[in-house]
Amino acid sequence: FTPKLLAGHSLLLTAGPTREAIDPVRYISNHSSGKMGFAIAKAATDMGAEVTLICGPVNLATPAGVKRVDVISTRDMLEAVMSRVDNHDIFIGCAAVADYRVADVATDKIKKSSKDMQLALVRNPDILATVASHSPRPFTLGFAAETQDVERYAKDKLLRKKLDMIAANDVSNPELGFNADNNALKVIWAKGQKDLPPTDKQTLAGQLLAIVAERIAILKDDN
Ligand code: PMT
Repeated sequence: FTPKLLAGHSLLLTAGPTREAIDPVRYISNHSSGKMGFAIAKAATDMGAEVTLICGPVNLATPAGVKRVDVISTRDMLEAVMSRVDNHDIFIGCAAVADYRVADVATDKIKKSSKDMQLALVRNPDILATVASHSPRPFTLGFAAETQDVERYAKDKLLRKKLDMIAANDVSNPELGFNADNNALKVIWAKGQKDLPPTDKQTLAGQLLAIVAERIAILKDDN
């Protein structure tokens, strides 16, 4: 039995990697499997929330009851998120979003030559920061995947992107984080923080959402 801590809430969630084309057969991406985000989608549904999951290319089955929207690139993901954000009161950015895309995507396959080559990259929009500055904005939780100075960088992202909460993910240990079955998080908000020690991603997702539900209830009482 899972307490329905999120009954009456609707969650918009991103998961998985985004992919940026170089030419018709090549792309830039990262090692995100989508497992963490899909675990959050399942846990939130079990806790009574309506869940919309916007995911990059992953190889996972959709949890029962979850509305899933598949996208490829960061700009596709931004569009899918912003066209739905007004219908949700919680946003969680768990996707590993490509920060850069190729400036000029080649229409035909790039031919190999004897010379070295360089790719010009341009900045992608920041989906999480765009949601956090939208009005009215949902309760906004970001992730921070870092390999060093995890807490400092996460706190910086919490303030800079004006988030309600951030889940700092130390991804320096290959047993945890990207593409692993287990993970650990340091959850940080303006007036507190809590360590969630290593465990399987499904258990961790439930623990993370219990903190989210508690913070939302406290913010509601404060208003
Ligand atoms: O998918 P798995 O294999 O299960 O792995 C899970 C995970 C390690 C990918 C996940 O737990 C995680 O840490 N996700 C965030 C990965 C990431 O891109 O972190 P970041 O520190 O680069 O980005 C910070 C935040 O901004 C994230 O919430 C990200 O979704 C968001 N972002 C980043 C760039 C961008 N252009 N738009 C964004 O919305």
